[in-house]
Amino acid sequence: MTTTRQTHVRKAVFPVAGMGTRFLPATMAMPKELPPIIDKPIIQYAVEEAVEAGIDTLIFVTGRHKRAIEDHFDANPELEAALKASGKQDQLEMVRDMVPREVECIFVRQHQQLGLGHAVACADRAVAGEPFAVLLADDFIVQQGGNATADLLAGYATSGKTQISVMQVDGPDIAQYGVVRPSGTAGGVAGLVEKPNAEEAPSNLASIGRYVLEPDIFDALRDLLPGAGGEIQLADAINILAEAGRVDAVRLRGQRYDCGSKMGYLEAILDAGLQHPDFAGPFAALLDARMRKGAAK
Ligand code: G1P
Repeated sequence: MTTTRQTHVRKAVFPVAGMGTRFLPATMAMPKELPPIIDKPIIQYAVEEAVEAGIDTLIFVTGRHKRAIEDHFDANPELEAALKASGKQDQLEMVRDMVPREVECIFVRQHQQLGLGHAVACADRAVAGEPFAVLLADDFIVQQGGNATADLLAGYATSGKTQISVMQVDGPDIAQYGVVRPSGTAGGVAGLVEKPNAEEAPSNLASIGRYVLEPDIFDALRDLLPGAGGEIQLADAINILAEAGRVDAVRLRGQRYDCGSKMGYLEAILDAGLQHPDFAGPFAALLDARMRKGAAK
């Protein structure tokens, strides 16, 4: 029997069950994926990236207290009726087109938070044997001349291998990432080490929260023991595929912000303000005035 490799990737998994302890008390009642970068919640940027890349099935791996994410991407007839009645056409279209009609949202529960690998494993049945993308919403990306997920999909269509998005991180911060052990061939990955000591990092290439995975990642995840931080790590499962020569790294084209940290979130808002089509000018002037006031003190 011959099997044909599926090159068209339709599904994307969004692990969103994390409690967001780093953002307490903001996350007492609000999922950590919903604070806005100006006027859009963080998760919506990742969803728009996936949809723009051609994904038509969004699989959210959620947990307790995450219902607001479902509501955010659901139709809201009362709001639509109110906007229509008051003639607010622009807002009406925005609310209606939150997720295009042909895109399906699936919500899967992760009952216990046992790590990123465990969260992805919860999507096994919904993924149903297809290659799929994974997007970590905390990694907010301002695209530069492309789309990070689309770049991974293009790599997958060419090689049929698992694709991970990477960026260069110099210095001790490398210890916060999954780090690539390069294979020696361009883009080749021989291994992925989750959060190594900075002195032992196998390179300065950090894996960021965008992946396109082959479905047999679920086999690798199934037998995995807890790794760094006592958690089931997605990086450890990818490492198994990498050791078999089945993983490529794709350089991120764009700027990535770690919105899981307060400084990263502040920086993302700052840069989004400075690049915003409506506010860039006045916001830059405001910042400039504040800096000059500070310098004059
Ligand atoms: C996760 C992954 C790690 C990756 C990082 C990118 O770590 O486990 O391999 O480098 O995302 O943001 P986390 O930041 O969730 O601890």
